[in-house]
Amino acid sequence: MRPAQGSEYMAGLIPQSFIDDLLDRADIVDVIDRRVKLKKSGKNYMACCPFHQEKTPSFSVNPDKQFYYCFGCGASGNALGFLMDYENMEFPAAVESLADSLGMSVPREQPERREERGQRELYPLMEEAARYYQRQLREHPRKATAVNYLKGRGLTGEIAKRFDLGFAAPGWDNLLKALGTTEERRRQLKQAGMLVENESGRVYDRFRDRVVFPIRDQRGRVIGFGGRVLGDDKPKYLNSPETPIFHKGRELYGLYQARQANRQLERIIIVEGYMDVIALAQHGIQNATATLGTATGQAHLEKIFRLCQEVVFCFDGDAAGRQAAGRALEAALPCMQDGRSARFLFLPEGEDPDTLVRGQGAEHFVGLIENAVPLDSFLFDSLAVNLSLDSLDGKARLSKLAAPLLQKLPPGVYRELMFKELADRTGMATDTLSQIVAPPPAPEASAPAPSRPRQRPALTLPQTQAGPTGLVQMAILLLLHQPAVARQVEDLEPLRALEGDEVPLLLELLELLSRRPESTTHMLLGHWYGTAQGELLARLASQERLIPPEGIENEFIDTMNRLLNHPKSREFEARVDKLKHRNYADISELEKLEIVQELREKRRRDEERGRKQ
Ligand code: UTP
Ligand code: MN
Repeated sequence: MRPAQGSEYMAGLIPQSFIDDLLDRADIVDVIDRRVKLKKSGKNYMACCPFHQEKTPSFSVNPDKQFYYCFGCGASGNALGFLMDYENMEFPAAVESLADSLGMSVPREQPERREERGQRELYPLMEEAARYYQRQLREHPRKATAVNYLKGRGLTGEIAKRFDLGFAAPGWDNLLKALGTTEERRRQLKQAGMLVENESGRVYDRFRDRVVFPIRDQRGRVIGFGGRVLGDDKPKYLNSPETPIFHKGRELYGLYQARQANRQLERIIIVEGYMDVIALAQHGIQNATATLGTATGQAHLEKIFRLCQEVVFCFDGDAAGRQAAGRALEAALPCMQDGRSARFLFLPEGEDPDTLVRGQGAEHFVGLIENAVPLDSFLFDSLAVNLSLDSLDGKARLSKLAAPLLQKLPPGVYRELMFKELADRTGMATDTLSQIVAPPPAPEASAPAPSRPRQRPALTLPQTQAGPTGLVQMAILLLLHQPAVARQVEDLEPLRALEGDEVPLLLELLELLSRRPESTTHMLLGHWYGTAQGELLARLASQERLIPPEGIENEFIDTMNRLLNHPKSREFEARVDKLKHRNYADISELEKLEIVQELREKRRRDEERGRKQ
């Protein structure tokens, strides 16, 4: 990217497509509310006008049109206009500022090419096409087949209208004749994917004898279509191809309608098909969207998370659904900033949201949505499916599988909690785990950062037992590998209250080491040589070392803490647990802050201990 060289330089070089995209993603209510407190009033928001002196509010912001207007002084404009006037900025600076607040960077490119300007001219044409198909559904002599089909699927006229459903009548050139009245318009229809040209140069309608679903972007512009056959022909659905204005990887069917129905969406549901979105809407569930015959990707999710904090994926309960869920999970991980939530719902086999809501009703479906599985449970449970977590081998494999996934999480409390959860499930210290996934940077600070963090050698866990016994054995094993860590135990008394076969051995070891801190592994083994305990020690000592030497002390501290599980830490665990089951709404900001601080504090202590070593 070239450096900015003053506003004149920047002005010509911000592509219009970017500005469109920017306005698409920005919410004027947000932008203004951050500067002038807005109050909701009916569909609009009001405030005292920042551009002239007044005592009663006449400044109104219309979220649907993404536009503000002052009845007092006539000031008006979109989000960028507001920034320019309010912050006294030039246009490019306003673009920069708005982009910045959305985490987008302004591309610097050549001045808009003719092609790009052409793209913008496609929108009105697509709108015309949508209107044309709608008219056909009302007027075409053979409309009955389509109308009956939709009725047969339980749709009312009202919902058909809300989603602008239409009918592409049988025939090769209906749309071509109706809309392609000039050479230029035919070229544009082709560019928009509405007309197809075969090898011999013949041009014809893409959508024929299908009900059509106009796909709108967030601003309500028609950008593509889906079309469904009326019978059992193949392909069942036909979608617009990728075009300059239609990108399947970014668009969600039904998102515009969902926002129309409710500006303050609390959650968005992602289903698989057009008909699912529509059937749910008809039953009053107006927050469903669908991807367009593609897997849910990160771009889809970022779009959603800009609008609300919670997404629920809805999948068929079959193998394909599970597979799709796995991909959705991977796409979701990088988006899981604190406060956001993603959950997974698996429907009974053979059902989809459409059949389910029609068969069981909206309340049932909402109940399912509300009980959808949180991302963390889904992640850990699905990874654990074929592992036996009673064995340390199973735990080791779980950390191997989970660690790279957790690494995709953005920094934040949620990431910390997930590593903690993994630590709880595998019996490894959080620090060890994060060290394994994200090792400290290489010593040559000037070297370019590797694109992927360097991998540590594969991790192996000792073959000790799980449960409290496992923890005691873990402590013993760590002591054997690095006897010096015993100095971390200042007071043996609380340990005496512990129960377990190996507790006396652990105590004896610690006592011996407090008397003779310089003891080595061999000296310890020698001390118990020939006894039953000696055999256990020898077995533990021969276990492969799983933790880098510099991590052993922390691991030991962590193991001892968990072994003792003193009330304070138990209380903390309970709070963390609550946070894990993340009803973020139920957790106060203060509490979240306290937990972050506590986690940071804990890490700082651990780091300090690490340094002392
Ligand atoms: P489904 O076949 O599950 O759709 O495909 P559905 O909504 O249940 O279909 P019906 O109408 O109830 O029978 C889900 C989505 O996958 C894409 C479409 O986006 C569809 O909505 N798809 C499906 C295609 O793109 N092409 C196809 O041939 C089939
Ligand atoms: Mn279906």
